[in-house]
Amino acid sequence: MSLKEQLENLRQTSLQEIQKVVDLDALNQIRVEVLGKKGPITEVLRGMRNLSNEERPKVGAFANEIKSDLAEAIETRKAELEAKKAAAQLAHETLDVTLPGQSIKKGTPHVLTQVIDDLEDLFVGMGYQVVAGYEVEDERHNFEMLNMPANHPARDMQDTFYITNDLLMRTHMSPNEARDLENHDFKNGPIKMISPGRVYRRDTDDATHSHQFYQMEGQVIDKNITMADLKGTLEYTIHHIFGEDRDLRFRPSYFPFTEPSVEVDISCFRCDGKGCNVCKQTGWIEVLGAGMTHPNVLKAGGVDADVYGGFAFGLGIDRFAMLKYGVDDIRNFYLNDVRFLNQFTQEG
Ligand code: DAH
Repeated sequence: MSLKEQLENLRQTSLQEIQKVVDLDALNQIRVEVLGKKGPITEVLRGMRNLSNEERPKVGAFANEIKSDLAEAIETRKAELEAKKAAAQLAHETLDVTLPGQSIKKGTPHVLTQVIDDLEDLFVGMGYQVVAGYEVEDERHNFEMLNMPANHPARDMQDTFYITNDLLMRTHMSPNEARDLENHDFKNGPIKMISPGRVYRRDTDDATHSHQFYQMEGQVIDKNITMADLKGTLEYTIHHIFGEDRDLRFRPSYFPFTEPSVEVDISCFRCDGKGCNVCKQTGWIEVLGAGMTHPNVLKAGGVDADVYGGFAFGLGIDRFAMLKYGVDDIRNFYLNDVRFLNQFTQEG
């Protein structure tokens, strides 16, 4: 076989191999074998020594032609294989963006938290500060500073869980009034604070009583605060929570920390004041306690009662939520039954 024939054979077999190969590594292997220094073309070209001077350049040129043909064939095949590989990968990774998504279960604040958040937003908007306190309180802040010295009969109004002789689970949020009075410097302006939180009483749980529930205390202390300020503030609050149509009624009452003291009723939203089972036929629903801060409370907090005065109020968050949403058993708030809680899921 002449050198030319050998080269032509090589071209044919190599081209077939290149066409047959299906993966890029194998193709690379062929490239090294066929075109490399130790490859068959180089081998064949060694035989050129024996050729005549005329023939040598022709065969050389032919060999080079074959080399570049094969290199081109390899490049073409390489591009084909790469495109195939990319297509397979794309097919495998195809994403149908029109498929319905998997919905993510989203949590939502507890209904009592929603009521607290709502009230906080309202009062912060009026320039109040939100004050935190301690669920474990001492007698001094829970009772004494609020004008309830030892043996004061009013202490019985709030059956107390004692931890030690002096420490107890706070029975109301009013201790934070005392704490705020103690800490406040009127150089920084008046006191305008609210304090929502959990309170504890030794009560037997039933539809309207719970041994732990939520209250929100509010207090404003400055010069020249009157009961009209209290009334306006409560009216604004009640209208925000229960709607503009509600009427308010102040009834004289007694709390040791306020003088005068009132209980506040709203006109029944079920019967609009005509009388029904929600308002026990009275047309009115009691919603909170309030009054003008007692001078003894101011004094206990180190505030000059001749110069400063103000009002305070305490409302039950659970009671607000029960009335607002028509919940008839307070225990529902604490059972964490999602079927109940989901009714108050906030959208968006
Ligand atoms: N601390 C009272 C309670 O737990 C609620 C209350 C009534 C708070 C009248 C006040 C108030 O600030 O003026 O029942």
